[in-house]
This record gives sequence, C-alpha cells and structure tokens, in this order.
Amino acid sequence: MDSSHIQFCFDKSRIDFNQVQELFVLGAFWAKDRAIEDIKIAVENSDPVVTVWDCDRVIGFARATSDGIYRAGIWDVVIHPDYRGRGLGGKLVETVLAHPKVNRVERVYLTTTNQKHFYEKIGFKQNSSTTMILENSRLVGVASLLEQQAQQI
Ligand SMILES: CC(C)(COP(=O)(O)OP(=O)(O)OC[C@H]1O[C@@H](n2cnc3c(N)ncnc32)[C@H](O)[C@@H]1OP(=O)(O)O)[C@@H](O)C(=O)NCCC(=O)NCCS
Repeated sequence: MDSSHIQFCFDKSRIDFNQVQELFVLGAFWAKDRAIEDIKIAVENSDPVVTVWDCDRVIGFARATSDGIYRAGIWDVVIHPDYRGRGLGGKLVETVLAHPKVNRVERVYLTTTNQKHFYEKIGFKQNSSTTMILENSRLVGVASLLEQQAQQI
C-alpha cells in the first residue's frame, strides 16, 4: 500500500478526539478505557503531540512530555492495526524525536511491555535499573488532602 500521502501533524487544534479515542480502543491496550475529557487534558499538557492522518482519518498518535533539555518521555505511541508494518510507527517516533522540545534532550524515556524490538531499531536501549513507578492512587490522596487544607485556610 502506498503511504506517500500519509501526513504527520503537530497541530493540536486539528486533533479529532473522537477518532483518537477510537484509535486507543482499537490499538492501545493500556489506553482503551480513556475518556475524551481526560485525553484532552493529556494533550493539553504534552508537547509535541503528533497525529498521523490518511486524508481525514486519524491512523496514528504519539505524544511527549519534556523539559526541553534534560529529560523527556514518549507516551501513547500507536498506529492503527490496518496501517502497521509500513514504516509509519518508526516515522512517528522519529517525528516526535525531531521536534525542538525533544531533539536537544539528554535522555528520552519510554515504557513498553512488548514492543522492545521496535524501539531498539530506533536506537532505544533496554534499561531495567532506573525505573520506579508511583501508582496514581497515592497522588489522588495527596491531591484531595491539599484541597482540604486549601479550603481550611
Ligand atoms: C508498535 C507500533 C507503533 C509499530 O508501528 P508500525 O507502523 O507497525 O512500525 P514500523 O512499520 O515502522 O516498524 C518499524 C520496525 O520495527 C519492527 N517492528 C514493528 N513492530 C514490531 C514488533 N511488535 N516486534 C518486533 N518488531 C517490530 C518492524 O519490523 C520494522 O522493522 P524493519 O524496519 O526492519 O522493517 C504498532 O505496532 C502499534 O501501534 N502497536 C500497538 C501499540 C503499541 O504497542 N505501541 C507501543 C507502546 S509503547
């Protein structure tokens, strides 16, 4: 299949959130239950956000968070199942890495369960020694505590 007409877009204002949600349901097991309002918050607070388009159809998505110089993270990389194996996923990640918010950053992180080989081809290396995770339930508790304290002041 010819992919020359496929477009990679940084413009957040163009994002069709219904289609992005559908793409997550279809192709991103960790994000299949996400509400549109929450996806909007993630997009608002990420830069760059890349959507991949076949005419007016969203067929890919990826986003990064970055401090611009030391550390960045790449999240929610997905290509529609019908479009995989054509080089678009690789190009999607390269597009995120080429963005000015990411291209000077010393170290780019990502987490992946079963796509290690895909990322190794792009240049990522496995690193089991540095990753720790704080699950969100504790943060929600801290946030509501802070909210209560703010109301008492
Ligand atoms: C991972 C994903 C984005 C790859 O997209 P894609 O368009 O199929 O990737 P590409 O065609 O650009 O593949 C690039 C290279 O990686 C290889 N590759 C892609 N997926 C792979 C996989 N699951 N395992 C091993 N190699 C893989 C390809 O063979 C290709 O190698 P080549 O350059 O030697 O031909 C896509 O499979 C996807 O959306 N998966 C579901 C969501 C997901 O798991 N995302 C990653 C979460 S961290």
